[in-house]
Amino acid sequence: MARIRLGMVGGGNEAFIGGVHRIAARLDDRYELLAGALSSTPERAQASGAALGLPRIYDDFKQMAIREARLKNGIEAVSIVTPNHMHYPVAREFIKRGIHVICDKPLTSTLADAKKLVKAAESADALFILTHNYTGYPMVRQAREMVADGEIGKIRVVQVEYPQDWLTEAQDFKQAAWRTDPERSGAGGSTGDIGTHAHNLARFITGLEVESLAADLDAFVQGRRVDDNGHVMLRFEGGAKGMLWCSQVAPGNENALRIRVYGDKGGLEWAQEDPNYLWHTPLGAPKRLITRNGAGAGEAAARMSRVPPGHPEGYLEGFANIYAEAADAIEARRDGRAPGADVLYPTILDGLRGMEFIDACVRSSARNAAWVKL
Ligand SMILES: NC(=O)c1ccc[n+]([C@@H]2O[C@H](COP(=O)([O-])OP(=O)(O)OC[C@H]3O[C@@H](n4cnc5c(N)ncnc54)[C@H](O)[C@@H]3O)[C@@H](O)[C@H]2O)c1
Repeated sequence: MARIRLGMVGGGNEAFIGGVHRIAARLDDRYELLAGALSSTPERAQASGAALGLPRIYDDFKQMAIREARLKNGIEAVSIVTPNHMHYPVAREFIKRGIHVICDKPLTSTLADAKKLVKAAESADALFILTHNYTGYPMVRQAREMVADGEIGKIRVVQVEYPQDWLTEAQDFKQAAWRTDPERSGAGGSTGDIGTHAHNLARFITGLEVESLAADLDAFVQGRRVDDNGHVMLRFEGGAKGMLWCSQVAPGNENALRIRVYGDKGGLEWAQEDPNYLWHTPLGAPKRLITRNGAGAGEAAARMSRVPPGHPEGYLEGFANIYAEAADAIEARRDGRAPGADVLYPTILDGLRGMEFIDACVRSSARNAAWVKL
């Protein structure tokens, strides 16, 4: 099978996530990075493209979209790894030309842009993959499968948290500067940056949508214009209740995403910093530790796993799993078939749900943590 011809927007020299996407795309040898508009100025875009030895380097994303769509062997897919406010304008240019989009989260910087992008995607002949990468971890797939199989019964309680500490004090380096600027980040700070990951993970594992929420958001650092801590109570469809905590001001926490889900027959617990293990607590029986590729791990986890149990897999492999599933879907589209039912990458609609989550948190908090519907 010919490799998928890939382009990238954002991810220039000194950027963070662009490099992760490039590794993820290469891990299974299914993509070839051929073109890029990697930075916001022509000079930096050229220098960044040259540093990677890209065959086709563009000064800006619009020029890239127009030219690539006209080339006989132009790119088939583009990765968008810019700050949030650029996701919409960039994605729109590629998707309307039939180029598949692999975009990082959150979907956009405003709910209005997210709705416009969903409309654009509906009328486009292209796929939209959103890299909520935590859904690509084998033991997250295991948890989802166990919930779907009824192993913990009817879900009652969901506790999910994503604390970090890197914005505990005012920071002005590049990644901090745009994330704390509502024009570039969007109305949510920690809610948008990491709360959306927690919200998406809870939805992915439980299969339940949040119907309403009450959020208490703070910007603890003086002068900060977006939230850096959020406590959110959640009411899910079907009656389950949840609590979500996101924080970028919790000293000692790095990327401590953790979820616990409890049903009437048992519970599940997974932590991103120890990702090869899933605790299963069946009611009235001893706790079971399920290991990646180990005894008790099922098919959904095995598909997402590359090396034998005991050899750690983590962030990069989880990211690569989203790229692998995107490749499954893109190749299926090339051949005019549907991808397998086990392809579960997050879509533009998951992105829209994330934007609704941020919007609801901000609205609720502005009304003294009143309950609001999503
Ligand atoms: N899924 C994850 O785990 C994860 C982790 C980190 C960041 N992210 C997301 O990835 C995105 C980028 O975050 P980051 O930390 O890498 O940011 P960053 O500031 O490190 O990198 C952003 C890059 O985009 C480039 N850029 C800005 N405007 C551009 C334009 N108009 N055209 C082309 N390039 C442009 C910048 O020059 C830079 O190279 C954000 O949306 C963020 O939320 C996701």
